[in-house]
Amino acid sequence: MPATVLTGLQWGDEGKAKVIDVLTQLFDIVVRYQGGANAGHTTVTEEFGKIVFHLIPSGILYPDKTCVIANGVLTDTEQLLLEIEELKEKGVSVEGRLKVSDRSHVVLPYHKILDRAADIKRGIGTTGRGMGPGYGDKYARIGLRAGDLANLDRLSKKITAKKDDLDALMRLHMDTPKLQEELMEILAKHGLDKYYSPDTGFNLELIVGELKPQAVELMPFITDTVVYLNTALDSGKDVLFEGAQGALLDIDFGTYPYCTPSNSDATGVSAGSGIAPTRIDHIIGLMKAYITRVGGGPCPTESDDEIGEKLREQGGEYGATTGRPRRCGWFDAVATRHAARYNHPDSFIITKLDVLKGIDPLKICTAYELDSKRIEHFPADIEDLAKCKPLYEEMPGFHEDIRGAREFESLPENAQKYVNRIKELVSKEATIRMISTGPGREERIDL
Ligand code: GDP
Ligand code: IMO
Ligand code: MG
Repeated sequence: MPATVLTGLQWGDEGKAKVIDVLTQLFDIVVRYQGGANAGHTTVTEEFGKIVFHLIPSGILYPDKTCVIANGVLTDTEQLLLEIEELKEKGVSVEGRLKVSDRSHVVLPYHKILDRAADIKRGIGTTGRGMGPGYGDKYARIGLRAGDLANLDRLSKKITAKKDDLDALMRLHMDTPKLQEELMEILAKHGLDKYYSPDTGFNLELIVGELKPQAVELMPFITDTVVYLNTALDSGKDVLFEGAQGALLDIDFGTYPYCTPSNSDATGVSAGSGIAPTRIDHIIGLMKAYITRVGGGPCPTESDDEIGEKLREQGGEYGATTGRPRRCGWFDAVATRHAARYNHPDSFIITKLDVLKGIDPLKICTAYELDSKRIEHFPADIEDLAKCKPLYEEMPGFHEDIRGAREFESLPENAQKYVNRIKELVSKEATIRMISTGPGREERIDL
């Protein structure tokens, strides 16, 4: 399976890390190609227990695999070192098998502070990991890249020269004492208040002072990953691309502006890793058996009632990065079909089927009603989407515990029918490759 992409087809948290952890066995290299520490990827294994990855690809748990943080990712230097340390404590060494692109842009504390500040008024409900300001700098062409960490004097000058602009930006965001107070509370909660005060602005000397030892530690990992990945493919290595977030959070095709600032699906692979589209062999689309969403923005099938509550509790649906309760609801075939259109997966993996136990009947959204008309497409306009009422078909549910099931035939008939129906509504062509029946590595049905 030379170059294979695994992408979520919903609003993130589809169980990507669990599946990456399983699939890594078949690959030599696992690559993160977009997003940053906004991702929260959970693996559960007998050997290491539960681990939440934010930056390092989940494939790192296999000692003979190489993991790559490619150019399209925003590298949060502090978070990366934290993860390397946490892995070391668990006995996992990343030496020689973690590669960070010299072209990946760096996220620093001022990006996270600006993200938090902007979101108070904007209300997207971001993860606060600095994604908007980080990608903003990249596209404004004022960003700093991991390769710049090699020249610390030049880097320090570039950072401290930002002082007036960054302070001016904060004055625009924090234009009332009340907003300032609110922000300072948030910053204190996240240990960011030492870098900023409304009176003196950003403390960029502190940021530079902390960055210097981080840069020294990270230097051995920084390399030209475009050369590395293309050479690996040339020599017949198998490469797995680990998507972060999900297709409905994509900056171009997702629920703009309630989205993440990257192409968070298969469409981001080429630009995010330097692998040409002609080199991509397979795309695997991941769908949760119901939907979840964290943060703001319309979500037509959200069940703000006992069903939503049941899904949240049975599915443990709390953000892996922020701890926020996830919004839960019925499977939305309109939204997922939209995602499948621009990702065109050749196979599907369905996760968290076990969570539907005891929910009877099961509902699937097959179309929307917009302004009294039935539509089957996903509107681009956020206000139209917010007006859409889901139209459901019902299927009988199942009451058996299927956690850990390993054979499709062993599933209750109603669970089998449900799986086949959601797949059919999303794509006629792609086939189901795996059904996940629990968080653990072995809890799955391979098809
Ligand atoms: P990701 O961001 O797509 O990697 O997903 P998250 O890790 O944020 O959220 C998925 C959650 O569901 C994690 O807590 C996983 O351990 C858990 N999980 C994954 N697959 C399954 C499954 O099939 N059944 C159950 N019950 N939990 C699962
Ligand atoms: P994984 O990889 C779910 C959501 C945030 C917010 C919006 C923008 O674990 O599936 P950002 O910080 O990216 O600017 O926030 O996107 N979001 C996610 N939701 N899973 C994620 O990642 C997410 N990463 C960002 O909640 O609504
Ligand atoms: Mg997640």
